[in-house]
Amino acid sequence: SDPDLVERARAARAALGDRAFVLGHHYQRDEVIDFADVTGDSFKLAREAAARPEAEFILFCGVHFMAESADILTSDAQQVVLPDLAAGCSMADMAAIHQVDEAWAVLEDLGIAGDTIPVTYMNSSAAIKAFTGRHGGTVCTSSNAEVALRWAFDQVGGVDGTGKVLFMPDQHLGRNTAVLKLGLPLEACVVFDPRKPNGGLTDAELRDARVILWRGHCSVHGRFSVQNVHDIRAAVPDVNVLVHPECKHEVVTAADYVGSTEYIIKMLDAAEPGSSWAIGTELNLVRRVAREHPDQNVHYLDSTVCFCSTMNRIDLPHLVWAMESLVAGRVVNRIVVDPDDAHWARVALDQMLALPG
Ligand code: 13P
Ligand code: SF4
Repeated sequence: SDPDLVERARAARAALGDRAFVLGHHYQRDEVIDFADVTGDSFKLAREAAARPEAEFILFCGVHFMAESADILTSDAQQVVLPDLAAGCSMADMAAIHQVDEAWAVLEDLGIAGDTIPVTYMNSSAAIKAFTGRHGGTVCTSSNAEVALRWAFDQVGGVDGTGKVLFMPDQHLGRNTAVLKLGLPLEACVVFDPRKPNGGLTDAELRDARVILWRGHCSVHGRFSVQNVHDIRAAVPDVNVLVHPECKHEVVTAADYVGSTEYIIKMLDAAEPGSSWAIGTELNLVRRVAREHPDQNVHYLDSTVCFCSTMNRIDLPHLVWAMESLVAGRVVNRIVVDPDDAHWARVALDQMLALPG
């Protein structure tokens, strides 16, 4: 990084002192992570934001849905700043609230909405979290999807019953959790395509489904393939394949370990020196983990897969601009959720925070 910029960042950070708290997601650039007070996966960052009532400003170095969640979980007096408003998430954008309302109307017309609990992945808009709260559901993240899904099924008669979960918007996390963690058959999951009438499904398919998966995915994790897993196993003897649950079902099935970004870091921290790892997640994180573990042999699962382009929008110039503006008394790029949505989204987020484990 430009030394002058680093110096300005240090000065602005020092001037803000305890008035500001800087959160950094594990996919952020190193130049940004250097200024994070806490780093974490999306679940840890949500908890950290909620646990900082003394901070006037929460500088969220991550993506839009994470900053919205921080605004919902903090008090009205606290202000959440996203250093670049263009830091969205292509997966979260795959579910618009009007599409979710329409999908729910399909389930109501079929008479199955009363038997269905919505579960929304953290990677969704505040409006969709609010929808979920209004309909008695919960938010989940990649680190608690299993408990969240079990809890949701318990609301409608248990995993072995006939009730359903509407899982939004990541079909892969939903399928991987339902099949690999809860033991539901693959056929129990159907994919609802919001662009098609009836989600592209027959009434019977919707009635028989146990998990209705939204047709959404992550463009970064969607690129890892089973071939990548076979290739790395052929090239690196005894390699441990460790992937994020946003990867496709067949990739997760072929891998040895699956978990959130925080889990990936903990696995490497606990690994035997000299062991080999192939990691299937965003590149900033994999590079950092490789650098922090020179005693291990860390590979990228697919050398052609790149960064999450929206996470990378937050760079040092944007962070410096946001911090210097705050020092000068101007709050830029504040994220404010509509109060009614914030109320109901908080119900769904609090439900997640109350889940066991
Ligand atoms: P984590 O909850 O594992 O940090 O994942 C967030 C995310 O956006 C992964 O693509
Ligand atoms: Fe969204 Fe994928 Fe980027 Fe995560 S890695 S923020 S899911 S686009």
